[in-house]
Amino acid sequence: MKTRDLKYQSNKLYMGKKSIEEVAKKLPTPFYLYSEKVIEDNFIEFQGEAIKAKIPRPLICYALKANSNKYILKKLKKLGAGADIVSGGELKRAIDVGISPKKIVFSGVGKTKEEITLALKHEIYSFNVESVDELRLINTLAKKSKRKARICFRLNPVVNPITHKYISTGDKTHKFGLLAPDIMSALEDKSLWTNSKLVGLSIHIGSQLLDLKATEKAIKNLATLALLIDKKLEFLDVGGGLGVDYHPDEKTNLPSIKAYMTLVGQTLKKNYFDKLKNSKTRVVFEPGRRIIAKSAVLVMRVIRKKITENTEFVIVDGGMNDFMRPSLYGAYHHLLPVVKTAKKKRLVNIVGPICESSDVFADKTLFQPLENEDLLLLNDVGAYGYSMTSNYNLRGKPAELVVKKDGTVKTLTPAQKFSELS
Ligand code: LLP
Repeated sequence: MKTRDLKYQSNKLYMGKKSIEEVAKKLPTPFYLYSEKVIEDNFIEFQGEAIKAKIPRPLICYALKANSNKYILKKLKKLGAGADIVSGGELKRAIDVGISPKKIVFSGVGKTKEEITLALKHEIYSFNVESVDELRLINTLAKKSKRKARICFRLNPVVNPITHKYISTGDKTHKFGLLAPDIMSALEDKSLWTNSKLVGLSIHIGSQLLDLKATEKAIKNLATLALLIDKKLEFLDVGGGLGVDYHPDEKTNLPSIKAYMTLVGQTLKKNYFDKLKNSKTRVVFEPGRRIIAKSAVLVMRVIRKKITENTEFVIVDGGMNDFMRPSLYGAYHHLLPVVKTAKKKRLVNIVGPICESSDVFADKTLFQPLENEDLLLLNDVGAYGYSMTSNYNLRGKPAELVVKKDGTVKTLTPAQKFSELS
């Protein structure tokens, strides 16, 4: 697996050929810094391994929710990416960067009339439908606009993957997908299909998956239902969810992309393709995190230190509004000094300035002594980083920059000014 593009040279941290300290001299912190190389390498590896695993005509619909930066999307589009979208905004963004509607799948339990109408107008590849009521609305709106909607049922495969409960989506108790018997009865109801056509079946059982047992079971359930339906399905969509090693301990269990593709390929072959003659079904993937998580760092500066009876706090200028994952999920993200020293490490709490006790990046961690104005960074923030920023505490959103493959740095999004806040 391609990993981060970070290394120390003479104790200074570089992304590719660029000294992060140099980049930070020119603009205010905090800011996101992406490596174009990591993003492209990850996508190429994902697509390449799918082909090597002989998965039929794989279509990689990158999940925009992980990171919808235009520059990044344009790069992915050039490499052949489609899009997995969950809102009208993401649909407009995907179209805007030139992704063909024929490569767009629309997931989500709460698609509105306006969003469905827009997606029908663009004739997207598929509506990944999550309830009968949604299908009825899509069919009605398709009739109104004299179109035929392409429908994929998102199966709830009733599996329980090992991940944080907030990002697990494949069990009976979750709001996502339809249970197999409900899909079967919806297929019987002719009134739902006057202007709709079933073209695929999908699953997505959760995110940050490091153990693939539940994935295998879910794909088997998908294949079983696909055979039962006995339609010439154009595609099977195995969703996203493949995890990354945020914590060094996670590295040992981390499935490689090759291992993941082998599992997907073999499970589908055995349970679906081998049972059909001349199947024309293709396979869709919806990865987000695995493509983009490890491409970026959030560069921050120490504002001040505060020593209490029990604890030494290092207060940095990045907060939970700039990066939500630690405060929302208790997620671990590695912190690194931008300039390394040989001084003895100390036990500190590294926290943001936001008025919430959950605004913590590291709780009791050993870190080199830090002084006011020192730079440090939070690692692996490319996925669900900028896309989950907010203006909480009336703070402007941070800038986004990229280190391009030619070694130059480009600002993708300037830091938000106070005058831009509503
Ligand atoms: N497809 C569907 C239908 C999804 O709901 C998601 C993510 C994906 C694909 C992409 O999953 P990925 O490959 O990125 O795991 N904010 C959370 C993650 C929420 C994921 C939501 N759905 C986090 O920061 O961990």
